[in-house]
Amino acid sequence: MDDRFLEEIAADSGTPVYVYYEDRIIRNYRVFRDAFAGRYPKTKILYAYKANTSLALCALLKKEGAGADTVSGGEIETALKIGLAGKDIIYSSNSKTVEELRLAVDSGVTVNVDSLEELEQLELVAAKRKKTTSISFRINPGIDPKTHPKIATGLKSSKFGLHIVGGSALEAYRRAKEMKHLEIAGIHTHIGSQITDASPFVEAADKLMEFAALLKKELEMRLDYVDLGGGLGIPYHNEKAVTPDELAQAVVSVVTEWTKSLGYEPELWLEPGRYIVANAGLLLSRVQTVKTTPCKKIINLDAGFNTLIRPAMYDAYHRITVVGKTGETASEKYDVAGSVCESGDIFAKDRELPKTEAGDLIVIHDAGAYGYAMASRYNSRPMPPEVLIRKNGTYENIRERETMKDLYRGQKIPKDLL
Ligand code: LLP
Repeated sequence: MDDRFLEEIAADSGTPVYVYYEDRIIRNYRVFRDAFAGRYPKTKILYAYKANTSLALCALLKKEGAGADTVSGGEIETALKIGLAGKDIIYSSNSKTVEELRLAVDSGVTVNVDSLEELEQLELVAAKRKKTTSISFRINPGIDPKTHPKIATGLKSSKFGLHIVGGSALEAYRRAKEMKHLEIAGIHTHIGSQITDASPFVEAADKLMEFAALLKKELEMRLDYVDLGGGLGIPYHNEKAVTPDELAQAVVSVVTEWTKSLGYEPELWLEPGRYIVANAGLLLSRVQTVKTTPCKKIINLDAGFNTLIRPAMYDAYHRITVVGKTGETASEKYDVAGSVCESGDIFAKDRELPKTEAGDLIVIHDAGAYGYAMASRYNSRPMPPEVLIRKNGTYENIRERETMKDLYRGQKIPKDLL
């Protein structure tokens, strides 16, 4: 991606601002879809909304044919708002409220049940609404996905899912079979995020398919789909990451092998988030000052961990460049600091960059996933705007910058304090 438009966008929208590239999102989506669907035609892609729920991006991915993987009532509402049908939405969470279950039941969303306790609650909700709800169970396969501990979700000790070992997963299917308002449709797992190696996915696919075979043997059960979740990582630095093609080759061969002993072919559902949007987005931020301390040089930005929390939260590496200086050699070392009043608000330590000055425009790359979605108003800074560079070479604002007024919306000062 070149720096075209970036100065113009910063001038139009101010900074910090998130910028996304439509053509890149489409390309990522198609690469991912074709890798799997080319090998396993009964593939269904449900974009993981949590990565980026901006309406324009969700609408774009709907147009490409993606369903939605949602984790809250808000994300279900978003998927419905852009016109997705309930059958193309799955709802996963380890802790769903009764209101959220009602919404899912009423809208025909598939509920991915996380526990035996939730199963009972859902049956009650569906019975009260006199509706039948499609369900799957989230399985905790006890696999180490070799990623950052905060984003590993299928470890034995994780909070998610039902365990095969000990029998609770089988018990869940047995009980669900007896329930009048629930229809068993599938099986699900999601072992973690930013996974750059195929082997944990292969192990997860193998365990899930083996369990599907057990369901057939023990309960004469046939599943409509097997959902392997999301989790495919991207190279943020120079690390080697498995490609969708390599991943699909490895995973589909395991799934296909198992279908022989299953005697039927379930659909294969996948829930990619990061892979689709991460490298299609960047964060633009203006250098406020460059200061020299006795031990280092610090670039102070107008973005902070309120804008992009990944470096502070996961020690994540994001490439950084300076607009208009990409051809220059990286001659200086800087700490790139955010504006939040906390020492932990550092985007990069000892980063080599071309000589940088106040007023320069900084690009923080690969910020399309878990960037805006995890931003906050911490330190009373309004949420940033978002801009989409269209595939025809124009750009459009897809979300306004919040105003100070938005910070106060809904708040009240008791009369005696005025
Ligand atoms: N499906 C489920 C059930 C999930 O929990 C997730 C992500 C996904 C799919 C999508 O995973 P992806 O393809 O994006 O890896 N905030 C963290 C990532 C948290 C991921 C949580 N679950 C980060 O910034 O690295």
